[in-house]
Amino acid sequence: MSVEQLSPHELQSSGRYDGVLRYYELAKRAEWQVRDLPWGDVSPIPETRGGAEKQARRRDVWRSVITQQLQADAFAVEMAAQLFQLAPHHEAKLYYSTMVQDESRHTEAWLKLAEEAGGTAERDPHLDRLARMFLDLDTLEEKVFLMQVFFERLIIPRFRLIARSSRGTVLEDLCNRLTIDDGIHHGAGMAYERVLLEDADPKTKKQLIKVAQQMLPIFVEHALWRPPARARIATAMHARDTQRLREDLDEGVKLASSLGLDVSELSLPV
Ligand SMILES: [Fe+2]
Ligand SMILES: [Fe+2]
Repeated sequence: MSVEQLSPHELQSSGRYDGVLRYYELAKRAEWQVRDLPWGDVSPIPETRGGAEKQARRRDVWRSVITQQLQADAFAVEMAAQLFQLAPHHEAKLYYSTMVQDESRHTEAWLKLAEEAGGTAERDPHLDRLARMFLDLDTLEEKVFLMQVFFERLIIPRFRLIARSSRGTVLEDLCNRLTIDDGIHHGAGMAYERVLLEDADPKTKKQLIKVAQQMLPIFVEHALWRPPARARIATAMHARDTQRLREDLDEGVKLASSLGLDVSELSLPV
């Protein structure tokens, strides 16, 4: 069908998804390959000086960091595939086809990095609960809201933190790429959710706040969770971690409110 054949209403409604389409184009331009990472040129994770025991302890910490991110991206592959299947609009489907590839590439990179770092470590049980909850949500609006508006925005500062403490390694390079990719995933979700909510009834909007309220305490447990390998650092950093988390959650609430949702009933668990 040519553009001339579309009715004015159709023309207008096709333009509604231009925001999402822009993120499709952005994602195509930002695309990279796992082979682009500096494998072999720099060390995979930070090297520690000192005795064998200290080195082994530090390695365990990095293995645990990598395992948590591998777990998060493996879940993101499933979530992106669901979003791709559920989205009825052509522009959104095009966009999600890139997100499925991104999350799958992220998983590939973490798998390779885990191998170079000496294997995976303990799984984060709260991240498993979070994944189950997101995958079981009923509607597209809820999935875009929790995954792209909240989750992908909230993990960006974590990539920055990891990058800052792993300068000159493959891990740093990967985290810098993920900061950009998840920035695009978040931006696309904001653009799409805004259009989806234009026609949404109050009940749908209320439901979004309800699922956010169920998700927040699990997210807090996930963000503050440390396996035994990181327990010592966790105690030392608890106050700063909680403060940082509080700022991130405040940001999430601001985003929800910018989508026109009534956030007055949302209470933060930290
Ligand atoms: Fe990812
Ligand atoms: Fe993502």
